[in-house]
Amino acid sequence: MDNRSLVSLAQHSKEKLLYLLDMAKRFEENPNRRLLENKVVATLFFEPSTRTRLSFETAANRLSARIIGFTDPKSSSSAKGETLKDTITMVANYADIIVMRHHLEGAARYAAEISPVPIVNAGDGANQHPSQTMLDLYSIQKTQGTLENLNITLVGDLKYGRTVHSLLTAMRHFNPNFRFISPEELKMPNEYKVFCRQQGIPFEESTVFNERVIADTDILYITRVQSERFTDMLEYERVKNAYTLHNSMLEGTRPNMRILHPLPRVNEISYDVDNNPKAYYFEQAKNGLYAREAILCDVLGITIEDIDNYERK
Ligand code: CP
Repeated sequence: MDNRSLVSLAQHSKEKLLYLLDMAKRFEENPNRRLLENKVVATLFFEPSTRTRLSFETAANRLSARIIGFTDPKSSSSAKGETLKDTITMVANYADIIVMRHHLEGAARYAAEISPVPIVNAGDGANQHPSQTMLDLYSIQKTQGTLENLNITLVGDLKYGRTVHSLLTAMRHFNPNFRFISPEELKMPNEYKVFCRQQGIPFEESTVFNERVIADTDILYITRVQSERFTDMLEYERVKNAYTLHNSMLEGTRPNMRILHPLPRVNEISYDVDNNPKAYYFEQAKNGLYAREAILCDVLGITIEDIDNYERK
């Protein structure tokens, strides 16, 4: 694997995560820097996306890179049967970095193993979504002033939701206390519970979502039921409306509590929550630009020192 590829945040130390967050802060102060002039960024999206693709492409644009790619695999030669290996090998002839979303778990790791240019995992099936987690960490740090010792409640589709899997992986460094709230059918997979036990991360599980279980929460992280991952659509119909957060549920919550959601939402957060100051999901998505500028730079070997030197020019 190209050792600059970003496949999972399991590969990063605490120091490296904090370093990337520092880098993201510099981009929030000034997103427009010509650090990637003459670089080509390929965005290969084998699955639909709004935020991830557009924020990576905005990040590349604001850093003066050029962008190639596709948003629909049906418009690429994979529709004619070209393998992922051949697609990656070909695109690496043209681009300096490949940002890829794919429906298969492990696709990003496989691509990183065969690619001569760095791969950034923009989501692989129900597995991991590391760039989402970088913006989630940035949002948590910004709103809480710290990443340490927080009560984090994860709600919704914890089985198929790759954002919660990535967040849990990265939070291992910061002594979190997790609460997992999901329908029985969508519980956090065992491998992540084993991971928590190995890391000494306390967690509790519940199928109940109400005012009481969110009263002591610092970060309420709500997720959509991932319709695209179900093989049994009757099961999806049974669980799709399991939980909805309403504004009235927020009355007794902590002043510092913030509501995060990777988006898109379907019906798990009522529109009456949007004007509550604790609703942070749209700002969270905005933070994706800064986090992804940091990721593109880091993967291409640009350091904070380079950014600071650029600023002094
Ligand atoms: N959060 C997220 O991955 O959104 P998109 O699917 O729109 O990229």
